[in-house]
Amino acid sequence: MTTRKLSLKPSDLFAAALHAVKSHPIITVVWVALALLAIGISVYGGLPPVVTVALLGMVAAGALLLWALWSRRQPAETPIATSTAGRMGVVAVLISGVLTFGIIQLVPYGRAHSNPPVTGEPKWATPETRQLMVDSCFACHSNEVEYPPYASIAPISWEVQHHVEEGRDAVNYSEFATNPGEAENTIEVIEEGSMPPAYFTRFGLHSVAKLSPEQTKQLLEGLRATPGMSEGG
Ligand code: HEC
Repeated sequence: MTTRKLSLKPSDLFAAALHAVKSHPIITVVWVALALLAIGISVYGGLPPVVTVALLGMVAAGALLLWALWSRRQPAETPIATSTAGRMGVVAVLISGVLTFGIIQLVPYGRAHSNPPVTGEPKWATPETRQLMVDSCFACHSNEVEYPPYASIAPISWEVQHHVEEGRDAVNYSEFATNPGEAENTIEVIEEGSMPPAYFTRFGLHSVAKLSPEQTKQLLEGLRATPGMSEGG
């Protein structure tokens, strides 16, 4: 049996992709919708869109290569049925997706799960004040971050690391004594309702961080009696 001579040159792969898109409009629309959904979810969770686009690009390139390798192995005498080619395209995307997921686990960013030493917290008015802050804020603004198991899985691990870095940069309650950062805005952001960020507690996620109105009232009272939590306070 002679096999097809399909080259793996980028231009030919591109032509093959274009052909696949033209002959499978519905599957294409589904993939595009899924890709947009993935970008939307990641942006919502705080991962820069360029990262998701790069990941999707990896999946697409891998799938195209797998598909080309597969079609090259088909006998040249009989034309490949369009439906078979489409099915193999879906399989190629799935395999490439799993491979990409595996490869990104090797990226070191997000694996360290750092918790530098605690050098001095605010003089919390009461233990309850501290506990409410721990529940609601310490996941991003402390050196006592509890990393759940899923925080070790890329790309979630990247997102977690990014939030913790940004959060600690803004204010780190574990280093309040030496570097108060923007701690003086603490009361303000809670009154505004801008912290914890909405994405953090939506859909029932991290429910312990979502304070009830009574807890918020209790926390604000405690913070008003804690030095350094508001401008001039
Ligand atoms: C999911 C992570 C996360 C949690 C939980 C969180 N924050 Fe933040 N916080 C951030 C990030 C990221 C920033 C920096 C970017 C920004 O301002 O949105 C920030 C910024 C801040 C700032 C400085 C912003 C300003 O306007 O001065 C304060 C103050 C703050 N957070 C307080 C809190 C308090 C208080 C809580 C708990 C009630 C809390 N945060 C919970 C991630 C978080």
